[in-house]
Amino acid sequence: MTPLIELSGITKSYGQVDALNGIDLTLHENEILGLIGDNGAGKSTLIKILSGVESFDTGALRFCGNAIDPVRHTVKSARKLGIETVFQDKSLGESQSIWRNFFMGRHRTNAFGLIRKRHEKKEAMRVLTETLGLRGAGLSAGAPVSVLSGGERQGLAIGRAMYFNARVVILDEPTTALAVKEVDKVLGFAKALKQNGKSGIFISHNLHHVYQVADRFLFIQHGRVVHEAHKAEETPESLIATLMKWS
Ligand SMILES: Nc1ncnc2c1ncn2[C@@H]1O[C@H](COP(=O)(O)OP(=O)(O)OP(=O)(O)O)[C@@H](O)[C@H]1O
Ligand SMILES: [Mg+2]
Repeated sequence: MTPLIELSGITKSYGQVDALNGIDLTLHENEILGLIGDNGAGKSTLIKILSGVESFDTGALRFCGNAIDPVRHTVKSARKLGIETVFQDKSLGESQSIWRNFFMGRHRTNAFGLIRKRHEKKEAMRVLTETLGLRGAGLSAGAPVSVLSGGERQGLAIGRAMYFNARVVILDEPTTALAVKEVDKVLGFAKALKQNGKSGIFISHNLHHVYQVADRFLFIQHGRVVHEAHKAEETPESLIATLMKWS
């Protein structure tokens, strides 16, 4: 079967820094892939390439077998393909209001081409409070994203992925800044992706979290894949041992 996403020989440099040195990665339909590696290994760079934030230097990126032109691959085109990302870097759209951020790039318009502001505000709040169960005091449709807690920001991005029915959801360190209860919510969401026939890439330094949600694991070090394994061959402890070996 044609993989959903296929990267081959991807390289990416930032000036003198070689962040990725020839990465091969395959993501199959209805598969959750765990991306594991030390600080600076290249995980975030890789998912920024997938989600259209950064372009790559050499190599090929295919979605459902179709080659993607790195120059034309943007956040918008990635979203059109159904790739939604919850970024580790929380600076995206900080000054925007919650409802605008939720519908960013996909506003609902009326017959006159005007944004259906009331409808969008209501929908954004419905997803955040009813679907995700967020209850924070600062949570109102018109408040800027910058007032949200770490968990609420993750919720906003996850809510967006759910609402727009993303095909692939990429979660970069979604549990790092969260309280235990919020962690459970995010892990539950990642597991629900699988049950709903979706695919995902899950990045975390907490290998117990990665083990819980992923079907397969890819270890990255210095911008290269150094180890690959299926869940059946691993335990959380063996993942930790492998990570130690490569760092
Ligand atoms: N915009 C940039 N300019 C210069 N170097 C960069 C830039 N972004 C990333 N790098 C470098 O590329 C390498 C890979 O970074 P990346 O953020 O992909 O790592 P990571 O695996 O996500 O690490 P972490 O687990 O700490 O989030 C690092 O050495 C980093 O310093
Ligand atoms: Mg990172």
